[in-house]
Amino acid sequence: MAQKLAAGNWKMNGTEASLAEIDAMIAAYPDPGCGVLICPPATLLDRLSKRVGSGPIATGAQDCHANASGAHTGDISAEMIKDAGGAYVILGHSERRTDHGETNEQVNAKAVAATGAGLVAVVCVGETLEQRDAGETLDLVGAQLAGSIPDGISGETLVVAYEPVWAIGTGRIPTIEQITEVHDFMRAKLTERFGAEVGGAVSLLYGGSVKPSNAAEIFAVENVDGALVGGASLKAADFGAIIDAL
Ligand code: G3H
Repeated sequence: MAQKLAAGNWKMNGTEASLAEIDAMIAAYPDPGCGVLICPPATLLDRLSKRVGSGPIATGAQDCHANASGAHTGDISAEMIKDAGGAYVILGHSERRTDHGETNEQVNAKAVAATGAGLVAVVCVGETLEQRDAGETLDLVGAQLAGSIPDGISGETLVVAYEPVWAIGTGRIPTIEQITEVHDFMRAKLTERFGAEVGGAVSLLYGGSVKPSNAAEIFAVENVDGALVGGASLKAADFGAIIDAL
């Protein structure tokens, strides 16, 4: 059984003042009833991790390098994320695939590093509008899953997030039928490759313009185990309402 997980990706947002939102979350959700994850910018990870302590809110980073250390200016390693108190790392987000040209092979190497360091890898996949219009969604998602996820993963070390690029930050979401189709496909692909036990235990998140107003209908989809939330995770009230819907 896959864990229910509400994950917030703060992207390149947040300073010390933003941590007040976390205080509100900690106070409001002493026992959230699902996994809650917040991935702030790397500058806040250590502070946020200390803030949440050993409570029910987990923290993570938004990327890591495939190497453990070395001459890679500006990068951080999976070991550093662990050292800063993080338990998860988002990998292969479409913004990294677009802005930094990340390939499935690179995401795969990062996932190997992340799981080797004891982190949970949150691997992101999803099509552009052009790919959807061309009928390429399932082929693309299948190729991203096959290429970006390393062998040897488990439900404890991998989370997959389906994020249609055209739904991110746009206020548009796919139809419930489209979300259902892709999530069923992902569950089937993971089961085919890793077996029913692992395939059924990997949490499958939907991401892209999730808000308090649409979360419940998205979470009602059988193979949606939670959400990867961008903009709406920046405010405790909005993210809290999404947690409530899960
Ligand atoms: O990682 C989060 C996603 O890119 C979704 O972002 O909720 O602002 O659309 P959004």
